[in-house]
Amino acid sequence: MSYFALKQLHMITVAASYLLFLVRGVWMLADSPMLTRRWVKIVPHVNDTVLLAAGIWLTTIIGQYPGTAGWLTAKLVGLIVYILVGTVALKRGRTKRIRATAWIVAQLVFFYIVAVALTRDVLPIRGLLS
Ligand code: HEM
Repeated sequence: MSYFALKQLHMITVAASYLLFLVRGVWMLADSPMLTRRWVKIVPHVNDTVLLAAGIWLTTIIGQYPGTAGWLTAKLVGLIVYILVGTVALKRGRTKRIRATAWIVAQLVFFYIVAVALTRDVLPIRGLLS
C-alpha cells in the first residue's frame, strides 16, 4: 500500500476513533442502553486495531520508530494511555464523576497525540512559544 493511502487510512481511523469515543461517552453520561449494543462493543476495537496497524506500517515507510524517534514513542505511549483512560471512562470507573473525568482526560490525551503527529515534537507547545 502506498504512503499516501496508508496515511489516509490512518487519519480516517483516527477521526473514527475520536467520534466513536465521543459518542460512547455521551451514551455513558446518559445511561443509554446503546453502550451494550454488539456493534458498539466491536467496531471501536476493530477501528483502533486498524489505526495502530496503519501507524506501525507508516513507521516502516518513513524509517522512524518508537524507541528511537521521541515523537513516535510519545504517540505510542499516548495511544496506550488513551485506551487505558478510555476504559475507565466507559467501563471501569466506579462513579459517573470518575467516568466523566476520565472521558475528558482521554480526549485531552487524544489531542496531545494529534498535536505530536502534526509537529513531530514531544512538546508540541514549543512551536507556539518559539
Ligand atoms: C490515537 C492515536 C493516534 C493519533 C490521533 C494519530 C494521529 C496522526 C495524524 C493526525 C497524522 C497526520 C500527521 C500529518 O499530516 O503531518 C499521523 C501520521 C502518522 N502517524 Fe499517527 N496517530 C496515532 C497513533 C499512531 C501510532 C501508535 C503510530 C506508530 C506507532 C503512528 C504513526 C504515525 C506515522 C508514522 C505518521 C506519518 C507521519 C508523517 O509522515 O508525517 N500514529 N498520525
